[in-house]
Amino acid sequence: MTTKECVLELIKNEGGQAISGENIAKSLGISRAAVWKAINALRKDGYSISAVTNKGYSIDGDYISKSEIEAHLTENNCYSITVLKEIDSTNTYLKSAAEKGEKDGAVVIAEGQTAGRGRLGRRFYSDKGGLYMSILIRPDMPTERSLFITTGTAVAVSRAIENVCGKRIGVKWVNDIFIDNKKVCGILTEGASDFETGRLQYAVVGIGINVNEPKDKFNKEIANIATAIYEKDEPWGIKNRLAAEVLNQFSEIMKAPDDKAVIDEYRARSILIGKEVYITDNDKIKKVTVVDIDDSAAIVLKTDDGEIIKKTSGEISIKVK
Ligand code: BTN
Repeated sequence: MTTKECVLELIKNEGGQAISGENIAKSLGISRAAVWKAINALRKDGYSISAVTNKGYSIDGDYISKSEIEAHLTENNCYSITVLKEIDSTNTYLKSAAEKGEKDGAVVIAEGQTAGRGRLGRRFYSDKGGLYMSILIRPDMPTERSLFITTGTAVAVSRAIENVCGKRIGVKWVNDIFIDNKKVCGILTEGASDFETGRLQYAVVGIGINVNEPKDKFNKEIANIATAIYEKDEPWGIKNRLAAEVLNQFSEIMKAPDDKAVIDEYRARSILIGKEVYITDNDKIKKVTVVDIDDSAAIVLKTDDGEIIKKTSGEISIKVK
């Protein structure tokens, strides 16, 4: 193990309590300056290590670390990951990088966002308890099939949360992930199209997961509709395993996001099929019943007078009765 890894082990072993620089130096037989250098290198790797006067160094259990995420990636995954403490929006950041030529597979992960964005121009609350990530892909795909990127991502995130955290996950068309009737994650897919070829130039897939309940509770605007994977006492380092599993599942599914098996899984996870809901479409509110999600990922709706309508664009918003 390198000095940096040994220092990290000692700090982690304290389980959130502080350990003094002197004790670290003594245990490892190194100088205080070497401890300081290792701490700085760990912070650069994305570890959130606090220094408390007269006490020493401690680490938050919900730290995000590039090297730990990479350690949990399956073979052949070649994501280029950047971990940031705080950013306005990981999607905004990565879209701008994409416009400047950033490559397929770039990933930006933040512990918090100051201007997180949701669908339809909404704000996405991004407290420190969450995992906020965006992935840049350059798929060879007609723009009109890009809805499959969102549905495929929903399946990837659902599988990841189930595999890593053992919670049962449902999907609300088109981009919301639910635990027990409350939203735990939202997905925002943005991109650019080449108008001559009608194909995607790139897509930035943004994923915001409420991993731990925020220390000051959810904002009152969303308190009734939002939930987190863990109310408290999240397992140590869980965000790294979860981020890696999202990326593992994502790369597998993005090989063919329109594959029938993926859509079948998306449909099976739907919390809407069979339910009466209100849709807002072009400012008009309508009561409809959700009949199905078809193989093109369109939602199939039945109006009160028996008319069947299909919606493929994400421009409608749905409220469960
Ligand atoms: C929604 O619920 O309407 C979609 C929310 C998407 C939130 C994620 S968090 C990471 C990425 N950056 C953003 O600004 N938004 C997405």
